[in-house]
Amino acid sequence: MTNSIMPDETRQPAATSTPTRSAAAEPAAPTTEEMLLHLPLASVKDLTVSYGNGPVVLDGVDLDLYPGEMVALLGSSGSGKSTLMKSLTGFAPIDSGSVRAVGCDMRNLRRGQLREVRASVGQVFQNFNLVGRLSVLTNVLTGALHQAGPINLLGGFTSADRKRALELLERVGIAHKAKDEARSLSGGQQQRVAIARALMQRPKLILADEPVASLDPKMAHSVLELLHSIAREDGIPVLVSLHVLPLALQHSDRIVGLRHGRVLVSAPTDQLAAEDLADIYASDEEESDVDA
Ligand SMILES: Nc1ncnc2c1ncn2[C@@H]1O[C@H](COP(=O)(O)OP(=O)(O)O)[C@@H](O)[C@H]1O
Ligand SMILES: [Mg+2]
Repeated sequence: MTNSIMPDETRQPAATSTPTRSAAAEPAAPTTEEMLLHLPLASVKDLTVSYGNGPVVLDGVDLDLYPGEMVALLGSSGSGKSTLMKSLTGFAPIDSGSVRAVGCDMRNLRRGQLREVRASVGQVFQNFNLVGRLSVLTNVLTGALHQAGPINLLGGFTSADRKRALELLERVGIAHKAKDEARSLSGGQQQRVAIARALMQRPKLILADEPVASLDPKMAHSVLELLHSIAREDGIPVLVSLHVLPLALQHSDRIVGLRHGRVLVSAPTDQLAAEDLADIYASDEEESDVDA
């Protein structure tokens, strides 16, 4: 089932200490909230991916994402982080295994479901993917287009959309830049615009692929802090790929480490130290030294 050396057991619903009225008393049924907290919003099981006739890129990967948690995906370049994220929006060729995201089975999507999935998944990228000559506000508003049909697209945005976009800019701390061209902002500010645009979609899940790789350390911390607060406050799981270990240790609830397309580590962050993650980045030479 799993390649992980540290299976993540702490996500199992905690055993409730039910007062024992009699020996035959049933344990209390979990509340709706408890059940929701323990249902993954995305679930990848034994996933294998290869592109065309190429080598296996993901090899038996398991990953569950729960409401409210920020999960850091670690791994060297080429270890399969982006491919794993793409599998959650139907952009990766699945050889075997299963991928469920926001309630849909990505291998057996009904007509129209793929669009629905992509509308429910907010995405944040390393290079921000903003339209530089458009205003910050318009960039955020484009997040609403995922839900809009072609008529809405032609008709422009509603005043409710504009109000919401401004509120989101307020939330990410750059409402004062709403009218500025996106390209005039700093990298950190542009990433905040991209996060507001993702929130405009009312996402059920957020995927952030190397969102701080182009930012200086101070900006990197503040952007990750923002993503973590969104996970906690809105209950939206955030999967974030990172290549700086201390950032992952500081800003995640759980760490999943990939190496050559396999899960090497999967554990709550507070149970991990930097040494536990060294193998993810060990060079192939070091690995063969150990094997020898
Ligand atoms: N569209 C594609 N076609 C062929 N090979 C790909 C494609 N995308 C990724 N790969 C290959 O899959 C492997 C994993 O890539 P990727 O998922 O981008 O890893 P990471 O994000 O960890 O750098 C790499 O060897 C890469 O060259
Ligand atoms: Mg990548």
